[in-house]
Amino acid sequence: MDYQNIIVETRGKVGFITLNRPKALNALNDALVDELGVALDGFEADENIGCVVITGSEKAFAAGADIGMMAKFSYMDAYKGDYITRNWERLKTFRKPVIAAVAGFALGGGCELAMSCDMIFAADTAKFGQPEVKLGTLPGAGGTQRLPRAVGKAKAMDLCLTARMMDAAEAEKAGLVARVIPADKLVEEALAAAATIASYSLPVIMMIKESINRSFESGLNEGLLFERRVFHSSFALDDQKEGMAAFVEKRKAEFKNQ
Ligand code: HXC
Repeated sequence: MDYQNIIVETRGKVGFITLNRPKALNALNDALVDELGVALDGFEADENIGCVVITGSEKAFAAGADIGMMAKFSYMDAYKGDYITRNWERLKTFRKPVIAAVAGFALGGGCELAMSCDMIFAADTAKFGQPEVKLGTLPGAGGTQRLPRAVGKAKAMDLCLTARMMDAAEAEKAGLVARVIPADKLVEEALAAAATIASYSLPVIMMIKESINRSFESGLNEGLLFERRVFHSSFALDDQKEGMAAFVEKRKAEFKNQ
């Protein structure tokens, strides 16, 4: 695939995607989101890839959906075209972990894209917000749904209703981001964490992601039962035998992803 809006690379066992519309602060359009879907399809199919990092530029992870394009839309364009969201949930169905490495602005759809990943590493320059209200609309790709789950109702209301931005320190305190990192070390640390994840057993990594995500879809008892059953099933893996044998034999485990 000849990508026009993203750069797709691999770093060892890590898939590395850079959003690449710098002149528009990585504003999201259909072409970009579709390309993201194709890149994820490729990384899903590649047995060698154990984790994916998505990043933007120093100035912006993504400043939201492309306003120039949206400005011309009728209701029918938005509804029938399912503008930028038609491929959005590909991230949700992607079974390997995805880290968003966010520097600069993550606004509107940019914040929603970061929240669609499994965890966010933020540079100390990061700014998160859902400013759609200033444009006469509202978040359309999870801002009113994923943000309250991450930071609670009060802060989600504050951000969506006032359009103010939240800096990295506040975002970490609120639980939106996993780590805050000096900007010049962001990508390095995200790739290192991704490489660590990719060094473990891929089926186990997938089971952990699936089980944590299940907690957002179920009650506690249902979720605990799901986790227990998946835990039991891990004992069918060669990698579980290897991991525990390596511990007992005081050596490093060699996982074979099976
Ligand atoms: C299209 C955008 C853009 C966007 C920035 N640009 N954001 N183009 N869509 N979302 C363009 C600008 O027009 C400008 O192009 C260039 O990027 C640089 O932006 P500036 O505004 O000059 O930079 P700065 O002064 O540093 O301000 C940065 C900013 C501001 C605070 C991020 O650009 C801004 O407020 N952007 C809009 C943020 C926003 O409202 N996002 C939500 C969108 S709605 P030129 O050609 O002039 O140099 C949304 C809904 C999602 O996301 C729904 C999902 C379905």
